Amino acid sequence: MRTLTTIFTYSFVLLLVACQPTEQSNNTNPETKEWSIALHGGAGAVSKDMPEERQQAYMESLEEALTIGAEILENGGSALDAIEKTVNYLEDNELYNAGKGAVFTSEGTNELDAAIMDGSNLNAGAVTGVTTVKNPISLARKVMTESRHVFFAAEGAETFADQVDVERVDPEYFYTESRYRSLQRALEREKQESSNLLETPEEKAWKYGTVGAVAKDKDGNLAAATSTGGMTNKKFGRVGDVPIIGSGTYANDQVAVSATGWGEKIMLSVSAHTLAAHYKYEGNDLKASMNYLVNEVLNPGDAGFIAVDKYGVFSMRTNTGSMFRAAIDSEGNKDVGIWED
Ligand code: GLY
Repeated sequence: MRTLTTIFTYSFVLLLVACQPTEQSNNTNPETKEWSIALHGGAGAVSKDMPEERQQAYMESLEEALTIGAEILENGGSALDAIEKTVNYLEDNELYNAGKGAVFTSEGTNELDAAIMDGSNLNAGAVTGVTTVKNPISLARKVMTESRHVFFAAEGAETFADQVDVERVDPEYFYTESRYRSLQRALEREKQESSNLLETPEEKAWKYGTVGAVAKDKDGNLAAATSTGGMTNKKFGRVGDVPIIGSGTYANDQVAVSATGWGEKIMLSVSAHTLAAHYKYEGNDLKASMNYLVNEVLNPGDAGFIAVDKYGVFSMRTNTGSMFRAAIDSEGNKDVGIWED
């Protein structure tokens, strides 16, 4: 009788073990939000002394960008549409270093990078060094959907743009006086070792600035998009982290990530994919994965990130002091801000 009881107990325990999920999961999984979106407009070390009206202009534009994406998601639109249209708005707004408002290369040109990734099928599209495409993120999306390749560079990207329906502009369109002055100051600093031409607080934000958006839609699909002018005074043919899938941009069926900051550091740590891998294998806890990336993988001053996970939880973190950012989910949880709290 005793043997029978022991066998029964062991069988019951084995059955319980067999029924456990094989994927590591957080015991306190959050309730899934119907949809969620987060965006950034660059990370840096913006001074809190920024003039009030300038702050207001940033805050208003972040709100407007957020509303564009949130409305698409609320109406049942796809995560891809939401992030593309959100990024288009930021690309068209010269407050940000992407599209109109992009920083200048050392040669006085504007060379734009962008990438988009569809987490539902792991497809992606990217472009680097484009000079005549008004909204590089839309070209990146066409690379994803209308070519059999993932990444087009410079003249090749322009040739591809000739073959698809994207708005083209004269390179002059990207000229803005403030960014051009920043280039002149950067060139001057480079010439004089003891230059007293310090970077202005906003130059610090544009220096490696970027725009990006990540979202989860009502169908549960995740997507990420990032677009940038790169860094002021970048040299001949420099490619940053943004169009490198897994570095500045990544999405799968678990999490979508977009980076901003010092591209070389982001690339060397394959940041966006590192976050996704940590999330998948270390317990599906977005906050913990973000902490790991921002505090343990990267050094203070390197970069900021936005991410949305499969539960619709959003996270926005930087180790640079400030990041223009905004996020909202279907339950009305919302965060719009500039500085780290
Ligand atoms: N993170 C933008 C760049 O470094 O190009």
